[in-house]
Amino acid sequence: MRILNFGSLNIDKVYKVPHFVRPGETISSSGYQCFPGGKGLNQSIAAARAGHRVCHAGSIGADGGLLEEVLSAGGVDTRYLRKTEGITGHALIQVSAAGENCIILFPGSNHENDRAYIDEVLSDFERGDILMLQNEISNLDYLLQRGREKGMRIMLNPSPMDDFLRTADLSGVTWLMLNETEGKEMTGEEEPGRILDRLLGRYPDMQVILTLGGDGAVYRSRDGEISQPCYPTRVVDTTAAGDTFTGYFAAAMVEGKSAQEALRLAACAAAVTVSGEGASVSIPERRVVEERM
Ligand code: RIB
Repeated sequence: MRILNFGSLNIDKVYKVPHFVRPGETISSSGYQCFPGGKGLNQSIAAARAGHRVCHAGSIGADGGLLEEVLSAGGVDTRYLRKTEGITGHALIQVSAAGENCIILFPGSNHENDRAYIDEVLSDFERGDILMLQNEISNLDYLLQRGREKGMRIMLNPSPMDDFLRTADLSGVTWLMLNETEGKEMTGEEEPGRILDRLLGRYPDMQVILTLGGDGAVYRSRDGEISQPCYPTRVVDTTAAGDTFTGYFAAAMVEGKSAQEALRLAACAAAVTVSGEGASVSIPERRVVEERM
């Protein structure tokens, strides 16, 4: 069984701020760093650091060579990456004194994935392989459709949320990994239990993993519900916590671990990630996660 991540690649421009900038306000940042990022890239690095070979597909512009190098150096298979004439996607990230972030995305070449490219990549994969997806790339609807038709097991992180995801038919998705904000937008419900009721009511075969920030995560499928508390940690920067969780969870699924074991591993890896600065650079190796557990 192989993992294909058809996902975003971004250059993250990260600014340390006393608080998130308010409407009409100009503030000065106390620090600036540039990191490799993108939800897709972060998830691939996480699954690779968990010990699994992941194939990453997606588009970078002429200025995105560093992202390819980072993936290769991290043990990710980059043979399906594509270079375009456009500008590589980037993200402007404010990190507050409390370690929280807010992000503005410029999709750039992430929105240049066309159907012919998708078909070409997917033709190398088969039934049972895992297809990891987020919503930072173009043609997500087509990827969901083709992945389902091929019998691939789809792991979807519906972020960033948009009108398509609010109303899309996600019945081909095996694992839906979302946070409370996304859960509210998809279901109209506020309370975690009710978000899960609504999602499982609509998609009874789905496995839903709802992350709850400092309150951990909850998993629900037709077989039952499991709660996973957060591992205590010193929060420096929450960027890529969810991506780390997703990548480690995918790796655990490939290993045939139970949902409970996978949640524990993913939660511990995410806790290590938030204790460091930056996105992919703060994602831990498996050895570090296991020592921590
Ligand atoms: O989830 C974190 C990621 O979101 C960042 O690396 C940024 O690029 C945005 O895609």
